[in-house]
Amino acid sequence: MLAKTWLITGTSTGFGKSLATFLAQKDDVNLVATARHTDQLAYLDQYNHGQILKQVLDVTKPDEITAAVAATTDKFGALDVLINNAGLGYFGTFEESDRDAVRYMFDVNVWGLVDMTRAVLPTMRSQGAGIIVNFSSIAGLASFPTLSFYHGSKHAVEGISASLAQEVADQGIKVMLIEPSGFRTDWAGRSSQKAMPKISAYAQFADSIEGSETGAHHEPGDPDKAAAIIYDQVMNHAEELPLHLPLGKFATDTAIAKYEKSLADFKAVREISLSADQPEEK
Ligand SMILES: NC(=O)c1ccc[n+]([C@@H]2O[C@H](COP(=O)([O-])OP(=O)(O)OC[C@H]3O[C@@H](n4cnc5c(N)ncnc54)[C@H](OP(=O)(O)O)[C@@H]3O)[C@@H](O)[C@H]2O)c1
Repeated sequence: MLAKTWLITGTSTGFGKSLATFLAQKDDVNLVATARHTDQLAYLDQYNHGQILKQVLDVTKPDEITAAVAATTDKFGALDVLINNAGLGYFGTFEESDRDAVRYMFDVNVWGLVDMTRAVLPTMRSQGAGIIVNFSSIAGLASFPTLSFYHGSKHAVEGISASLAQEVADQGIKVMLIEPSGFRTDWAGRSSQKAMPKISAYAQFADSIEGSETGAHHEPGDPDKAAAIIYDQVMNHAEELPLHLPLGKFATDTAIAKYEKSLADFKAVREISLSADQPEEK
């Protein structure tokens, strides 16, 4: 059996660690597990069987991106699956969010994913095959208070991915968006800065921002189950890979409700929309 080569960003904790741990036990996978600090990847040592490469990679550093992709193709001769998993959060009202902090979040969540994807596309095009799995979120489909900039970053991931999917379909390359709701990872805790409201008009949001910290690691989603689902989709359902894969009850119920409501909203204003066009030319 010819093994598929997977490269995952952000495998120190959370979804990335669960997926790396799962894949490290599969004979049909060559695993490139990346992290900002490779000493965070000692958990993989027990599986060291020649099909695992640990690679330092901060997705905001272009030279490390280039080196990681080169190391992957040098060792395994291919790069079949890219998992753009690395990501951060930010809780705060729109008006009170720190501009530098949310810019950095966009550097990781959006530009890191973009730069990684652009770095692997030449290899995937020359192979005539490849799968790009982009971690979005239910926050890429629906929006809630105190997450405006996180929503912005994940909505960007959605739009970029959906367009890219159409551009590369003829090259044998597929794109899948993972859209989880709350999962037990470090995301809501250490990976998300929190700006508590100072303006009294926003005091009502303090509880929900605080709740994101205290609720961390109590979410319903199990990242080990997500890892098994992603492996199964990529290895056994590549031909019919969905563009959207919400994970978790809240994610899928919210996505369906959001789109049902949007459909009704768009139909309600259809006549107004049509009235904005010039009459059709004969
Ligand atoms: N958990 C959820 O409820 C949830 C829901 C929807 C979507 N997501 C998305 O899932 C993805 C994974 O997050 P997670 O939930 O597994 O949280 P996590 O446990 O905090 O993991 C985040 C990972 O991203 C890495 N990372 C952060 N900045 C990086 C950078 N500049 N370069 C490379 N790696 C970097 C972290 O590495 P360090 O250890 O070095 O910080 C860590 O490995 C994110 O894109 C997140 O937005 C999570």
